[in-house]
Amino acid sequence: MIKLKTRFLKEDMILANNIYTENDEILLGEGIHLNQVYIDKLLELGISEVYVNIPSTEDIIVPDVIKEENRKEAHNIIRDTMKRISYNEDIRMKKIWKIVDKIIENLLSSDSIIVNLSLVRSIDDYTFTHSVNVCIYALIIGIGIGYKKEKLMDLGVGAILHDIGKMLIDPKVLNKPGKLTKDEYEYIKSHSKLGYEIVKNNKNISEASAKIILTHHERFDGEGYPFKLKGDEIREYARIVAICDVYDALTSDRAYKSKEFPHVVVEYLISMGYHQFDYELVKEFITHIPCYPIGTLLKLSTNEMGVVYEIDKEYPNRPIVKYISNGDKINLIYNPSIQIVGVLEKM
Ligand SMILES: [Fe+2]
Repeated sequence: MIKLKTRFLKEDMILANNIYTENDEILLGEGIHLNQVYIDKLLELGISEVYVNIPSTEDIIVPDVIKEENRKEAHNIIRDTMKRISYNEDIRMKKIWKIVDKIIENLLSSDSIIVNLSLVRSIDDYTFTHSVNVCIYALIIGIGIGYKKEKLMDLGVGAILHDIGKMLIDPKVLNKPGKLTKDEYEYIKSHSKLGYEIVKNNKNISEASAKIILTHHERFDGEGYPFKLKGDEIREYARIVAICDVYDALTSDRAYKSKEFPHVVVEYLISMGYHQFDYELVKEFITHIPCYPIGTLLKLSTNEMGVVYEIDKEYPNRPIVKYISNGDKINLIYNPSIQIVGVLEKM
C-alpha cells in the first residue's frame, strides 16, 4: 500500500485500509475500487490522505503498534467514558485500567516500537482517536526511559483521560473552524481544570494520573496553562503527555486543517524542544517516529519514485525503498549516494 493525498486520488485506485465511521463501523472497505463519489465522500469527511494499492505496492504492509482489536476496544471504552461524562455519570475506571494494561502489554511485546500511523479516520471522532493515540505515544516514551509497570499505568491512565474536560466544553466553540475570540480561547483552556474536577475525588485514579489531566498544557518555558508552571515544576508525566498531545494534533486531520507530514512535525518538535518541551523526552520520542513511515511515496535523487517498504530501527531515515517503475527494492543504508529529495503527495 501507498499513502496518497485524497485530493489527488484517481478513479479505480484500490483502497488498502478500511475507513471507519465514528461508531467504528466500516464506511469504505479495504479492496474497493475508488470512484469519484467515494473520493468526494472522503474529502467531505475531512480525510486528507488514504492508503491505496497500486501495482507493485500490494506487498507493502503498514503495521500498527497495537493490535486492531485492542485499538477498537480502546475507542469503545473512551467513547463510553466521554458519553458518561457529558451525562454527568461516573467513569468506569476499571475498564480504563484494563485497556491501558492491554496497550502496555502490546507495546512491551514488540521488539521495536516504530510509529506508523496507518489508521485513517474521519475528523468527527478526533477526540476518541486522539485520546488513545496520546496514551500509546506517552507509553512509548515511558517504556523508552525505563518506566516499570506501576509508573506506566499511572502515565497511561492520565494520558488516555487527559482531555476528558473537553466533554464539558460547548462543541460549537471546540470545533469552530475559524479564529477563536480571546474569550472563546480562555473558555476552551478551562478544559484541563474541568477534567481534573471530574476525577479528583475518584478513588480509582491516582493523584499522579489526575495531575496529568490538570497540567498537560503547561509548557517547559512557563508559557502554558493553567498555572504557568516551568521546567521541573511540571511533573514528568505531564511533560511527556504535552509532547504526545501536540504530535498527535499536528499529524491528524482537523476541521480547520489537514494533517502535516511526519518529517515536518518531527522538525517542529525538535525546534520547539528547547522551549516548550522537555528536550530529553522529545529526543526519546523521535527515535520511535520515522520521518518517512512505511507507505510514504518518495522522490529520490536518481529521479525515481519509490515507496518506503521497510524501516531499520537503527537507521529509520534510510529505509528500504521499492521503485514504482519496476518494483525493485533498494536499501538506502547501502546506497549512500542516493538521497531522499522529498515526500510526494501524488503519483
Ligand atoms: Fe488538552
